[in-house]
Amino acid sequence: MTDKNVLPEGFVSSLFSLDGRVAAVTGGGSGLGQAMAVGLAQAGAAVAVLDVNDEGATETAAAIEAGGGAARALHCDVTDSSAVNSVADEIVDQFGRVDVLVNSAGTAFRCAAEEFPEDRFDAVLNLNLKGTYLPCQSFGRKMLAQGSGSIVNIASIGGFIAYPHASAYLASKGGVVQVTRALALEWIGKVRVNAIAPTLMRTPLTERVGQVSSVTSDFILARLPREGRLGEAHEIVGAAVFLASDASALVTGHTLPVDDGYLIA
Ligand SMILES: NC(=O)c1ccc[n+]([C@@H]2O[C@H](COP(=O)([O-])OP(=O)(O)OC[C@H]3O[C@@H](n4cnc5c(N)ncnc54)[C@H](O)[C@@H]3O)[C@@H](O)[C@H]2O)c1
Repeated sequence: MTDKNVLPEGFVSSLFSLDGRVAAVTGGGSGLGQAMAVGLAQAGAAVAVLDVNDEGATETAAAIEAGGGAARALHCDVTDSSAVNSVADEIVDQFGRVDVLVNSAGTAFRCAAEEFPEDRFDAVLNLNLKGTYLPCQSFGRKMLAQGSGSIVNIASIGGFIAYPHASAYLASKGGVVQVTRALALEWIGKVRVNAIAPTLMRTPLTERVGQVSSVTSDFILARLPREGRLGEAHEIVGAAVFLASDASALVTGHTLPVDDGYLIA
């Protein structure tokens, strides 16, 4: 910027642009991950769509290509460090670099705490927490070597508050909030690490777990600031592009609620 108080022409659109950047989105084959993958592509990024759901990842990549973007669907189990490391290598081999990582792979299991099965507890923590940490670590190494990068983890309002029959999920998302802070601190000036905490969003995940038990969703629904106002997948995209892009250059270590005000009260 040359002149005090005057922005160069096109300053704001360049802030949010991801032209020439390469992004990887875990869980990009469904729900929020799918919407964010397409959104990052619309902002200009080439996008690697990582998922164990190959059909969903292929659908997302096809949607990006149909919109004129560049995409690649890649099978990757985010709980497997060697799979994550090799997909990170593959992305850098193919695209030359990796600038953005969005960690959206995740799951939920509904059960009263006193009956919560140990194997389900392990599965939720393994996917939501370790499955966020491992890609951060693997892609973070590439970004550290480049000297730049932005990671966006998907936490939840459940990283800050409690609701019933979701103890493993709440623990995992509290963990994601803290991992976000931990890595941001260690990587300051090199790799930014932030998270998003969505409210209840209408996605295949919420439909699936809502059918098993409505205890959790009834509790959340009764407390929504606006009755019946769930989030839609496209409503997370603005926050994801903001945190992925230079628009948030001075933002790191934070979790941005996209919650229609749920966490205020
Ligand atoms: N939907 C909501 O209300 C809501 C609210 C807050 C936070 N979140 C979080 O947002 C994220 C996305 O949720 P969603 O609602 O889009 O769910 P979703 O089920 O629609 O999508 C999750 C994706 O993760 C993939 N996945 C599962 N296990 C994987 C693995 N081992 N490796 C790679 N990919 C794997 C699934 O195949 C799926 O495509 C999750 O972390 C979830 O906890 C969702």
